[in-house]
Amino acid sequence: MRRSRSRNIQPLLRQVTLSKNDLIAPLFVDENLVAPRPIDSMPGQFRYPPGTIAALVAELYGKGIRAVLLFGIPKTKDEDARSAWDPDGVVQQAVRRIKTEVPGMVVITDVCACEYTDHGHCGIIGRTREGMDLLNDPSLELMDRIAISHARSGADIVAPSCMLDGVVGSLRAALDNEGFEEVLIMAYSTKFSSGLYGPFREAADSGFAFGDRTTYQINPANRREAVLESQLDADEGADILMVKPAGFYLDILAEVAGIGLPVAAFQVSGEYSMIRAAAERGWLKEKETVLESLTCIKRAGADLILTYFAADVAGWLDEQE
Ligand code: PBG
Ligand code: ZN
Repeated sequence: MRRSRSRNIQPLLRQVTLSKNDLIAPLFVDENLVAPRPIDSMPGQFRYPPGTIAALVAELYGKGIRAVLLFGIPKTKDEDARSAWDPDGVVQQAVRRIKTEVPGMVVITDVCACEYTDHGHCGIIGRTREGMDLLNDPSLELMDRIAISHARSGADIVAPSCMLDGVVGSLRAALDNEGFEEVLIMAYSTKFSSGLYGPFREAADSGFAFGDRTTYQINPANRREAVLESQLDADEGADILMVKPAGFYLDILAEVAGIGLPVAAFQVSGEYSMIRAAAERGWLKEKETVLESLTCIKRAGADLILTYFAADVAGWLDEQE
């Protein structure tokens, strides 16, 4: 085997190569800020005010990044997430500014309510036989409103992350009905209930006041259920499927890639912060480890990777050319 690993032959035989076109940069936009503010739990990441987000996105575009995913932190939260579908809400403002100043950037919006509800759950809550819990169908209507308001602001792709049953079919019908046939749906189709979302709770101010998300996100122990979830979203009309988190779930990613739709993998906040923190201590080499993690995610079957390392990776790929 070593014949094929010589320095000159090895590059010719390389199977998987990362490209800037694979990358999506997740960004946090905070309506309460006037200047960027560092996120303690995610060293190197910031929340940006709506007023400076377009400049940052222009910079990313200059580095060769072609897609961003927006999370919003609003001024006001209430029981039913009204600020999430406000035409002048934080994400809506940010999308308009980005699409005006950097029209070539593909703008994806996270469609969920947990940053906008005072209880921190992903939709409308109410009494169930489990006690207070996320209500499915009443929350669907809320997601429709959020997605339509994002589409009206110019979003290219909406990404429901709430794990409600039927959300993809509901959004597709609602978008088509409003004339947004061209807006894609990237479904967070296989989203596990993961401890790796820990740093995100601080980043997006989306911790919950009671309970947890285990009644709507998938148990990490369940492979069949995880694949079925993506298949159902494909049947409902998703354009892109997603597996989240990425690195611990490569077996699932490989199976979901077999469904036949493009697949995105989300390297989540915990995956980012683990590598960053160890690198800060000098315990591992950041560039080598990050490129390895993303190459392996792509090898497992991802067409697209959402990663907080996107800007760093774009720089590293330039160095290699
Ligand atoms: C909320 C949402 C979460 C993430 C994306 N959207 C957190 C959660 O479901 O608890 C996680 C992203 C990350 O950890 O990077 N619907
Ligand atoms: Zn949510």
